[in-house]
Amino acid sequence: MAESDTAVDAERFSPGVPSRSQPFELKGSGALDWGMQSRLARIFRPPTYRTVMLAIDHGYFQGPTSGLERVDLSIVPLLKYADALMATRGIVRSTIPAASCTPVVLRASGGPSILRELSDEQIAVSMEDAARINASAVAVQVFIGGEFESRSVHNMTRLVDESQRHGIPVLAVTAVGRDLTRDARYLRLATRICAELGAHVVKTYYCAEGFDTVTAACPVPLVMAGGRKLPELEALTMVHRAIEEGAAGVDMGRNIFQSDDPVAMIQAVSAIVHDALKPQEAFDQYLRERQ
Ligand code: R5P
Repeated sequence: MAESDTAVDAERFSPGVPSRSQPFELKGSGALDWGMQSRLARIFRPPTYRTVMLAIDHGYFQGPTSGLERVDLSIVPLLKYADALMATRGIVRSTIPAASCTPVVLRASGGPSILRELSDEQIAVSMEDAARINASAVAVQVFIGGEFESRSVHNMTRLVDESQRHGIPVLAVTAVGRDLTRDARYLRLATRICAELGAHVVKTYYCAEGFDTVTAACPVPLVMAGGRKLPELEALTMVHRAIEEGAAGVDMGRNIFQSDDPVAMIQAVSAIVHDALKPQEAFDQYLRERQ
């Protein structure tokens, strides 16, 4: 029997209330497909649309580096504090519990070890396998100014083409070769090239002078890599500056997993990124939480 068409029933459709669509607020991402936005929102957590990504993919060219000898023991306990985990498919499948539900940013380029020319990379994961593993994004190294610059850029653009088909975003990692200076001029060049050629997110290093011009010139979210291990207060100060100067979060490895207390450190980083703590406040929290 048809439902009665009374005025009371009509009210349930709220005809006087205009339908509103909610804009996707992540920088430069408003025109992306729904699946792409959904995956980005797993990584860049609303309402801040920022991320604390834990990078543990170092083994793809360095082997079992300090702090990553036993990922099951050192990293798994950190997962609940990370907004995303950047890792290789070998570590994800062998060691990361699927039930952790931490979004995975899958390392998708590789080839040479630390014994060889690092820019000589190829694509190392198909987008089908990234989809199979339920990756929220794939990561590719781009060596602007490096010996195999063009190939690394081509690796990225091929992944971007594939990513558009699958709705899986591409994070471009701007690798800095031994002979290149990490100043704002270089970082603007490298990050902008990645974004212009289609990367949905760009990862780069912090520079003390002019980092705000690097983030301003990059039309998509930029996350800061941690780099070599620093004393905790220095690392937290760098995180704070990067966020203040426009970064959408961090993708840090050694400064977390090589810390004296990685659990306390990742929480202190998160407190800066998501809760606007000052460096000293976050350091005090680190000292309180330290085991
Ligand atoms: C290096 O190529 C990897 O992409 C690392 O994920 C990256 O360097 C971030 O790690 P860290 O904070 O230790 O520099």
